[in-house]
Parts: sequence; C-alpha cells; structure tokens
Amino acid sequence: MKATAIAHPNIALVKYWGKRNIEYNLPAAGSVSLTLGGLETRTTVSFDGGIDADVVELNDNLVDQGPKYDRVAHFLDLVRNRAGIREHARVVSHNDFPTGAGLASSASGFAALAVAATHAAGLDLSDSELSALARRGSGSAARSIFGGFAEMRAGTREDGQDAYAEPICGADHWDLRCVIAVTAHGEKDISSTEGMTRTHQTSPYYDQWVDSVSLDVEWARAAIEQRDFDELARIAEASCLRMHASAMAAEPGIIYWNGTTVDLIHRVRKARKEGLPVFFTIDAGPQVKVFCPAESQTDCELLLRDTDGVRDVLVTHPGEGARLIEETD
Ligand code: ADP
Ligand code: DP6
Ligand code: CO
Repeated sequence: MKATAIAHPNIALVKYWGKRNIEYNLPAAGSVSLTLGGLETRTTVSFDGGIDADVVELNDNLVDQGPKYDRVAHFLDLVRNRAGIREHARVVSHNDFPTGAGLASSASGFAALAVAATHAAGLDLSDSELSALARRGSGSAARSIFGGFAEMRAGTREDGQDAYAEPICGADHWDLRCVIAVTAHGEKDISSTEGMTRTHQTSPYYDQWVDSVSLDVEWARAAIEQRDFDELARIAEASCLRMHASAMAAEPGIIYWNGTTVDLIHRVRKARKEGLPVFFTIDAGPQVKVFCPAESQTDCELLLRDTDGVRDVLVTHPGEGARLIEETD
C-alpha cells in the first residue's frame, strides 16, 4: 500500500490553453510536448486506515489547507473512488526545480501522483487510463505519463475518457536539448488554470486561438517524425506567441513575461538568423525555454548565460515517462 514514482515535466511545442469542461478538466484542443529529462518530481503515497484526513507534504513543507492541499485531496478522491477504498493517504512529494513558476511542476507533480497513488491503491491502469486520470489533476500532466514526444488528444466524449495523451516518438528519436533561462524566482501570480479560464471568459481572441491549434498539432507531429528542426521552430514559436496573445487580450490582460523574457525572444531570433539552430517557447511564466540540436547546446547555453537578467540556466534533454520506482506492502 505504499508506492513511489518519478515523473518529469514536459514543455508544450503546441500549447494547451483553454478547457472545454472544467469539472473533468477537458482541454478545448490538442497539444504536443517533449518530456524533459533532467528535472523531476518524486512522490510517495501510502494509504493508511489510521489517519482521518489526507496528509500532504510538498517540497519539505506540510500543506494542510488551501488550493495546493485541495488539489491533491480531490485527486486522491478520484483514485479512492476508482479503487473502492476509503483510507486516507500520506503524500510526500518533492520537485527538484521551481514549483508554480512556469516550468510545468503541475505536469510532473500530477503524473507522479497518478502513478504512485494508483499503485498504492492496488489499481493496475493502462497508460491511456493513467494519462486520462493525470489530466484530472492538471491537463499538462496527461503528457508526462509518456517519455519523448507526446500528443494530447482533446477527445469528444463528455466524460473525458478519450481525452488522454499518446506517444509520438520515444526519447531516443531525436536528441534535442531544451535549455531553460530562469529569469525570475518565485511563484507566478496567476496560475495556469486561472490564466486560461480568464482567457476563455474574456479574450476576444480565444475562439480564434482554439481554432488555430489543430493544424499546428498535425504539422508539429510531422515535423517531429521527420526531425525537421526549422519547421518545428516555425510552429512552436507561432503557437507560443498566439497563446500569449490570446492571454494578453483578456481582461484584465495577462502578461506572464518580464523584460528579460522579451530580450531573450529577440536574442534567440537574432542568433537563428546568424546561423545558430535555436527556437524559443514560453509557458505561463517568465522563463524562456530554448530548443536546439545536441551539438549546439554549448553555444545555446552561452547565449542565455550572456543575457542580462538571466538568473539561472537549466539544461534538459528528452526524458522518460512517469514510472514506479518502489512499491511495498
Ligand atoms: P506550473 O507552471 O509549475 O505547472 P501551475 O500553476 O500549472 O504552475 O501549477 C502549480 C501548482 O501545481 C502548484 O501550486 C500545486 O498546486 C501543484 N503542484 C506542483 N507540484 C506538485 C507536486 N509535486 N505534487 C502535487 N501538486 C503539485
Ligand atoms: C502554458 O496543465 O498547468 O504550460 O490543466 O489547469 O492544470 P491545468 O493547466 P496546466 O496548463 C499548462 C499551460 C501551458 C501550456 C502547456 O503546457 O501546454
Ligand atoms: Co502547470
């Protein structure tokens, strides 16, 4: 009844930004991502008949109330219902990278929790079932169940059972590096959930944004299969900028960027013009993720380290899917 799992965050090349159903956390459109080895969440779950509420420890802090606690407890309810058990759980989780800062901690966090909690509850789910379950915790977590490149399917069913991710190519298909420029420490003011909900409710660009995604998903899938860097660069930058444009057009407008974020966009594009194969993407936060082929990693790192305002540079590579590492009775 005790299980430990590891999962990595993932970065979307075609962004998920909007829900078609909030209760089941169903995405309004598909998305495409790369799972990032080098950053990880490690989560241990044990169900225990002797405790009268779930106990959650995140990054060495006891979380006993508030949205972080509720999100985990609600997810555990889904697992308990599915397994037909009533025991509460002890959850100990650790992210080895910043939480809630636009580095996809909700993706690795809920992918690791899905694997650890289902094993601890005695469930044996398929990868698709695990992915659909992880989605209930966080939409992006559905993709971190898989290693390498993954596609999230929006699905059409009201109950969301066909809204799960699928692998496109494994981690060994293409040795791209994702070099992350951390431009600010600390948690974002507007969570991803809140940001996309406000965009949906108030942005006049929301419908156009959602309509634009399915072609990008098809193109990105083909570019990944063919290892076509220039084409992937085109699609990923366009998807990122369109997502942020839809958010900026909300009311009040959502701006996740700081000055260094904008400087980095220009520097990456200039370096590409001068011959360095690089492209950027940015999630719901001020950090800039720069993709390059393995042989350009050092030049890419230098470019980012040399930019004023960059606090830290993290190097990641295609990583494995979420997995169980220990289980005891
Ligand atoms: P991020 O860009 O880091 O994904 P989000 O706003 O999407 O930011 O989600 C951050 C939230 O995800 C946290 O406030 C917390 O509720 C949840 N979270 C992050 N890491 C974990 C974890 N390891 N276990 C459980 N929940 C987590
Ligand atoms: C900008 O998966 O964190 O990173 O489903 O509400 O938990 P919830 O949102 P989340 O949103 C991720 C948004 C993004 C783009 C992406 O990862 O596709
Ligand atoms: Co997130």
